[in-house]
Amino acid sequence: TYLGIDIGTSGVKAILMDEKGKLLGEASAPLEVSRPKPGWSEQKAEDWWTALLAAVDKLASEHKSEMSALRGLGLSGQMHGATLLDKDDRVLRPAILWNDGRSFAECAEMEAAEPRLREIAGNIAMPGFTAPKLLWVRKHEPEIFARTAKVLLPKDYVRFLLTGAFVSEMSDASGTLWLDVGKRDWSDALLKATGLDRSHMPSLVEGSAPSGDLKAELIKRWGIAGPVVVAGGGGDNAASACGIGAIRPGEGFVSLGTSGVLFVSNDRFRPNTAGAVHAFCHAIPDTWHQMGVILSATDSLNWLSRVTGQDAAKLASEAEAQFAGPGEEIFLPYLSGERTPHNNANTRGSFVGLSHLSDPARLAQAVMEGVTFAFRDCQRVLGDAGTQIDHLLAVGGGSKSNLWLRMLATNLNMPIALPHDGDYGGAFGAARLGLCAAEGADPATVMTRPAIKSVVEPDAALADAYAKQYARYRALYEPIEEARS
Ligand code: XUL
Repeated sequence: TYLGIDIGTSGVKAILMDEKGKLLGEASAPLEVSRPKPGWSEQKAEDWWTALLAAVDKLASEHKSEMSALRGLGLSGQMHGATLLDKDDRVLRPAILWNDGRSFAECAEMEAAEPRLREIAGNIAMPGFTAPKLLWVRKHEPEIFARTAKVLLPKDYVRFLLTGAFVSEMSDASGTLWLDVGKRDWSDALLKATGLDRSHMPSLVEGSAPSGDLKAELIKRWGIAGPVVVAGGGGDNAASACGIGAIRPGEGFVSLGTSGVLFVSNDRFRPNTAGAVHAFCHAIPDTWHQMGVILSATDSLNWLSRVTGQDAAKLASEAEAQFAGPGEEIFLPYLSGERTPHNNANTRGSFVGLSHLSDPARLAQAVMEGVTFAFRDCQRVLGDAGTQIDHLLAVGGGSKSNLWLRMLATNLNMPIALPHDGDYGGAFGAARLGLCAAEGADPATVMTRPAIKSVVEPDAALADAYAKQYARYRALYEPIEEARS
């Protein structure tokens, strides 16, 4: 059997899978995000480990015989987070996460320090990425920077605890801004631009290749019979793509999770930094991908749920019950700033067009539409980069809402397929990568597409109304930014 573990932002999830790819069991444990200042977002690295042990202990106790046959393990994780270790492998400060915008000024400084940055990294320096966070630490916490011996991404810190090895893999390493994404190797020039060198980095493997062996004490703890190979794994987006079999050019997904991602696989490195498109390595050899990333997707609905005191799923179903096409309210979902297409960590969300009729259900509809328009922005800039998306699957918690999928299909003007019940998040893709690494299997035969439960088609009756509403949405960003500055 094979284990996939996803170190997410809102929780750790572990799934157990057999050699045919069938799900045998799953367990998860929640995580909190701390926001010490507006625009900041941190987590304690220790909490990932505590949550991982809780989830895998549960799985091991509920699936004893299947766990004893474990042969491979794969890791998936929230990308970009900076976990700093000293020379004795001790964590130096809370990890600074992917949706933390504090290192805005440092992005410009890094681009000035290394003018070839966009060319080498294939991406714009954005505060979500890891390298600018290190420049921030160097400036604001110089004593911590001086003691930093290793910088690890969240799942790679967890890998260190699982195996004792400092290893990363190409897909997640692409989000550091220290990787030469075309060459699939660390860039000395980019490391130098942040005062670091290769000694601060883990070694690199492909996501489907072995990265180390599970420690003996954990093999014993979880009642496993033989050795367990730990695969490179992937950043959560590349791992999710492995889970739904999006590894061939033009295959992609739309993820309605805490963040929102429009992901598409490419046969080669296709950087296009205009429009803040991300161009990263995929988790399997000789493959790359592009994506547009929006920072608050279901997180926008969760925010509305917090301020109205109503459950998010209930808000979504009330929005669906009263839905009669786009209304007056328009929502800009920039609660954590935005990456694609604005690359602006300091922008903020807005509600426009409120009236006495604006009740929680209508606000929920506007929130779901605002997030949908943000995806439409992503599709537009991926199109500007010359990329066509041929197949789209929906993944993530928000894909449970039929209305949200209908909005997406209509606004992206393409059918969106929904996989059969099951879990197609990062943990499942990670388990598949674990299988590849343990058995030396060809990723192309393992990363198949799931059976499709339903396909949501664009709603022609809503297309015009949404084209108009999207135009209004797009027209709002600049004047609001101007008024705020
Ligand atoms: C991708 C990104 C997010 C995180 C979420 O660039 O920042 O999708 O990976 O976990």
